[in-house]
Amino acid sequence: MNNRKIRVVVAGKGGVGKTTLTALLAHAFSRRGMPVLAVDGDPQANLAATLGIPASHPITPLTEQKAYIQEKIGGVPGRGGFMVLNPDVADVADRFAIPAAEGVRLLVMGGVQNAGTGCLCPEYTLISTILASTGYFPDEVILLDTPAGLEHFGRAVAEGFEYALIVTDESYNARAVARDLSRLARQCSIRQVILVVNRVRNGLEKPDIIGEMEGLFQKVWLLPHDSCITRHEPSVIPAVLDHCPIVGNIESLAGYILAHC
Ligand SMILES: Nc1ncnc2c1ncn2[C@@H]1O[C@H](COP(=O)(O)OP(=O)(O)OP(=O)(O)O)[C@@H](O)[C@H]1O
Ligand SMILES: [Mg+2]
Repeated sequence: MNNRKIRVVVAGKGGVGKTTLTALLAHAFSRRGMPVLAVDGDPQANLAATLGIPASHPITPLTEQKAYIQEKIGGVPGRGGFMVLNPDVADVADRFAIPAAEGVRLLVMGGVQNAGTGCLCPEYTLISTILASTGYFPDEVILLDTPAGLEHFGRAVAEGFEYALIVTDESYNARAVARDLSRLARQCSIRQVILVVNRVRNGLEKPDIIGEMEGLFQKVWLLPHDSCITRHEPSVIPAVLDHCPIVGNIESLAGYILAHC
């Protein structure tokens, strides 16, 4: 293994398991002794609960850190005006990331109105600058959980990430979204675009799906449906402590990522 940073963006249709996968991978990398920064890029912001942070823990998303936005970007919240478009945000994780578990910290981005249109407001400028600056953060592994679907996935989100994990289930619609995301990920010059087929029932032999997707992805990875996850949700920690079946598969996926960096 070399000392390169491992930056992974997780994307896919709604409800396919993006946040669960992000949280399980965060724990898998941290168990290997690698400091992890998990970034919640979904305005719905449920990565904290999935990582095991209690709901009572107060979290102010970055888009609501008005003083920081003013300090770094200027401009008028929600509108624009005179803004610094390329600020130094290397301090953002040290100032605002929340400890989630041993070796894992969490940065919650929050929502931006009209983010899909790439609005020129200070909040959007902050978020896109942070995502472009992850190489300056000290954490060895950066995992970015994204909102559902295609419309938020673009250069401002994914450029600079070496890995895209495109998550799907076995459904036709989720696979169609995954195919479109593979194209977008390649347009963002992401080197390793991996399809993760989640919640697979009746064994991990799916030659039809693997065959259909093989040319579009560097690798197709199958994860089992694991009732352990739903039994313990929202947190994945009990599933990790109980050595639930999916945890071994996630360990192997982390190993695959490390072997291909
Ligand atoms: N392998 C699995 N086995 C069983 N249940 C799973 C598995 N993966 C995820 N789930 C369950 O599926 C549901 C959706 O998972 P999750 O919230 O991670 O999806 P998501 O893609 O992040 O959703 P959203 O698009 O809303 O952000 C949750 O109830 C979760 O516990
Ligand atoms: Mg999610």
